[in-house]
Amino acid sequence: MPKVFVTRRIPEPGLAILRRAAEVKVWEEELPPPRDVLLNEVEDCDALVPLLTDRVDDELLDRAPHLKVVANYAVGYDNIDVPACTARGVLVTNTPSVLTETTADLAFALILAAGRRLVEADKFLRAGRWQTWGPTLLLGQDVYGATLGLVGLGRIGAAVARRARGFNMQVIYHSRHRQEGLEKELGAAYASFDELLHRSDFISIHVPLTAATRHLFNADAFARMKPTAVLVNTARGPIVDEAALYAALKTGRIAAAGLDVMDPEPPRRDNPLLTLDNVILLPHIGSASVATRTRMATMAAENAAAALRGELPPNLVNREVWDRRRA
Ligand code: DGY
Repeated sequence: MPKVFVTRRIPEPGLAILRRAAEVKVWEEELPPPRDVLLNEVEDCDALVPLLTDRVDDELLDRAPHLKVVANYAVGYDNIDVPACTARGVLVTNTPSVLTETTADLAFALILAAGRRLVEADKFLRAGRWQTWGPTLLLGQDVYGATLGLVGLGRIGAAVARRARGFNMQVIYHSRHRQEGLEKELGAAYASFDELLHRSDFISIHVPLTAATRHLFNADAFARMKPTAVLVNTARGPIVDEAALYAALKTGRIAAAGLDVMDPEPPRRDNPLLTLDNVILLPHIGSASVATRTRMATMAAENAAAALRGELPPNLVNREVWDRRRA
């Protein structure tokens, strides 16, 4: 029987699929397995199901001579050195599509909550500070009719654009490639990055973390945004330079931010963003609905099980490994 190591307890339907295909070992703790434990565990593994908290790199692959597949329990796979896996003939899979709408819901929730200062208002009331209705109490930014700038128009970006139509927002987007088909369907207009920064009332980030997107939102970008602008990030923390964001929020260079992702995660206790009222900080819960996390588990498990059976996994990231095997 092949062996699978799962780096955290994923929902049971996923584990059930894995158990039919392999001998399954699950790391039962809430925190990720320490690095040395992970390196020991992969030594006799045929499949690994990691989370975005588990780094899969040369060091790990060197310790895993039998590894055939790394089935990430996430759509993003910046925790995995894909070229290193490809070089060793290890298949890499992810969980696309299933979390699109759930993550788009959260991005839109942050647009509304950061724009209208919901968390700040809730804290204000609970602290007993609400004395009377006031004409200038907790004024925020209108979402209805505002301009929404989407950085990235992949599956999640497009799903946010669909929600924005219900709020009569003007949607502009920037991405590496223009998406003329989608532009028509979504009523979205292409903009250069600079134009998007200048024109947007709300900016929502939907690009993967790559060398090109690391610190895409830096002091220079904040300097070009409206002072009333709201930034939302549900993608990956390092796309935003947090020191520059702190300065922009503190000085009123931009109005507010909503972050579901940070750099690092969790943030250090002395991260100055934790001291600001005009930023909402969430613990990376974009895909955290019962249905979506369950479907992610079955998807990751189906990917791993297919690879162990020698079949093409449904959500293969490095197709070239498969093609090479077939050649
Ligand atoms: C992902 O899948 O990449 C999300 O960040 C977590 O679900």
